[in-house]
Amino acid sequence: MNERRKIAVLAAACLAAALATGAMFLVNGKLHAQSNTQPAAAAPSPPGTQTAPNMIPIGEVPYYAEWASSPHADHTAEAFNHWNKEGAIPVECARCHSTPGFEEYLGADGGAFGAAHHPAPIGTVITCAACHNDKARALTRVVFPSGLIVDNQGADARCMACHQGVESTNSVNKAIAGTADDDVNTKLEFINVHYRAAGATMFGTMAKVAYEYPGKTYAGEFHHREPYTRCTTCHELHTVAVKVVDCAACHRQVTDKPSLHLIRVSKIDYDGTGNADEGVAQEIDHLREKLLAAIMAYAKAVAKNPIVYSLEDYPYFFVDTNGNGVADKDETRFPNRYKTWTPRLLKAAYNYQFVIKDPGAFAHNPTYTIQILQDSINDLGAKVKTDMGKVTRP
Ligand code: HEC
Ligand code: HEC
Ligand code: HEC
Ligand code: HEC
Ligand code: HEC
Repeated sequence: MNERRKIAVLAAACLAAALATGAMFLVNGKLHAQSNTQPAAAAPSPPGTQTAPNMIPIGEVPYYAEWASSPHADHTAEAFNHWNKEGAIPVECARCHSTPGFEEYLGADGGAFGAAHHPAPIGTVITCAACHNDKARALTRVVFPSGLIVDNQGADARCMACHQGVESTNSVNKAIAGTADDDVNTKLEFINVHYRAAGATMFGTMAKVAYEYPGKTYAGEFHHREPYTRCTTCHELHTVAVKVVDCAACHRQVTDKPSLHLIRVSKIDYDGTGNADEGVAQEIDHLREKLLAAIMAYAKAVAKNPIVYSLEDYPYFFVDTNGNGVADKDETRFPNRYKTWTPRLLKAAYNYQFVIKDPGAFAHNPTYTIQILQDSINDLGAKVKTDMGKVTRP
């Protein structure tokens, strides 16, 4: 397909998606274009023969199949269904969890850049129209939740508009202001930085979305060898899968997706295990495990209330009522959430969540990730014994 044809088809596809209030999706492998103003299409036609409302066969839309297989098009995902009972996506969530909300954030609805203005209808995913409109194309600036700004990010600015988290060093400092480091304050709640904040990890201290301890210096943007410096060069544009084959060209450890975790170049033992040959991802995993152990020891010794973490259950930190060190099913319910936070504990828990909820942190910014993990462990180390051995801070 030549370039002009591609663009014409893309424009048509975006128009179709916009007409369909941003919703074009596959149900049982079949395409539906659903609209608020027109009744949804009747019986779906067999795959390959469907046409968008403007009669462009879906098979001719460039990257349609790639996008359709991506998490951005997964209409069954929790990230697009969380509000089904409420019937609408609240304004503060809409900008990252719906196409109309993202368009409003960009100002593509004619409004100002920087916020959604209306609750979004449920039932949309992140369609072509979200990333391909005039405002999206012109967007090169990223405004992080700390208020910090980075410019000249090209197409990556689109990714980072959503993959940036919702809290920051500032918001944590604001919450803990006025409480001494080791005093329990039952008004404090866990602060959840949110999920897959890859852009915030990549920009490190230029974004200050992780909790940064006063008096320490932190790494800024991770500069990997060109051209693998961007969201849109390490990840496929539309499937958003990591380009594993490309990585293998330089990193001999890589043979498949899981082996990305074995990538290692630097020769420093970051986690104090004495092994500097394991993958940098494994160094990070070990530091994270040590941080959780320190969090648990501190909660018991200083906050006098044992804590457990559960990866899948909001809000993640719970009281270990039976004291067995494991997040049991009857403990991971919302009413049993951890409520005896001290500032020191809250900061460490915040960073633990930041790292574990960015599974690509080792590739997005290994230095920054290691720094915040080590600093969190050492800060708890002021009160409890931690298992750090001889570690070097990068
Ligand atoms: C700055 C963008 C942004 C904002 C604002 C935002 N989210 Fe998210 N949210 C994300 C991203 C990115 C993910 C994807 C995580 C993933 O891939 O699993 C996500 C995932 C989720 C998930 C799925 C979690 C899971 O484990 O599968 C839920 C639920 C969610 N968000 C709720 C909310 C709620 C509620 C709000 C509003 C109070 C909100 N989000 C606001 C970016 C955002
Ligand atoms: C999450 C954001 C996102 C979504 C969703 C998305 N794209 Fe893209 N697409 C990009 C980015 C980023 C680029 C590269 C920069 C650019 O050209 O705007 C791109 C580039 C393109 C290009 C030009 C690349 C080339 O090889 O000529 C086409 C055509 C395209 N997208 C079509 C689509 C279609 C059709 C859909 C929906 C089926 C879609 N995109 C969904 C982000 C997205
Ligand atoms: C409008 C907000 C938005 C934009 C723009 C966006 N994303 Fe996402 N992204 C999300 C949400 C929400 C999810 C979770 C979807 C799901 O759970 O299926 C997600 C999921 C992902 C995932 C999979 C995470 C997982 O849990 O498996 C990757 C990788 C990803 N996005 C990369 C990108 C890249 C690269 C770009 C830019 C080309 C981008 N995203 C643009 C909101 C966005
Ligand atoms: C140096 C290459 C590189 C760069 C640059 C990069 N990523 Fe990643 N990303 C990865 C790797 C490697 C993973 C981990 C994949 C895995 O564990 O299977 C990952 C994971 C992710 C995930 C989580 C996927 C999952 O399966 O849960 C998201 C979301 C993501 N990246 C988004 C982005 C965004 C947005 C940007 C730009 C700010 C970006 N990435 C920049 C390599 C990169
Ligand atoms: C052209 C060669 C080349 C390619 C291709 C390449 N890398 Fe790298 N990578 C390097 C070099 C050189 C370093 C060390 C210096 C630096 O950071 O630039 C590195 C460092 C890393 C590190 C940090 C390792 C450590 O021990 O700190 C990670 C993680 C990484 N690369 C991931 C990836 C991923 C994921 C891909 C594929 C998307 C990739 N790289 C593709 C050359 C490459």
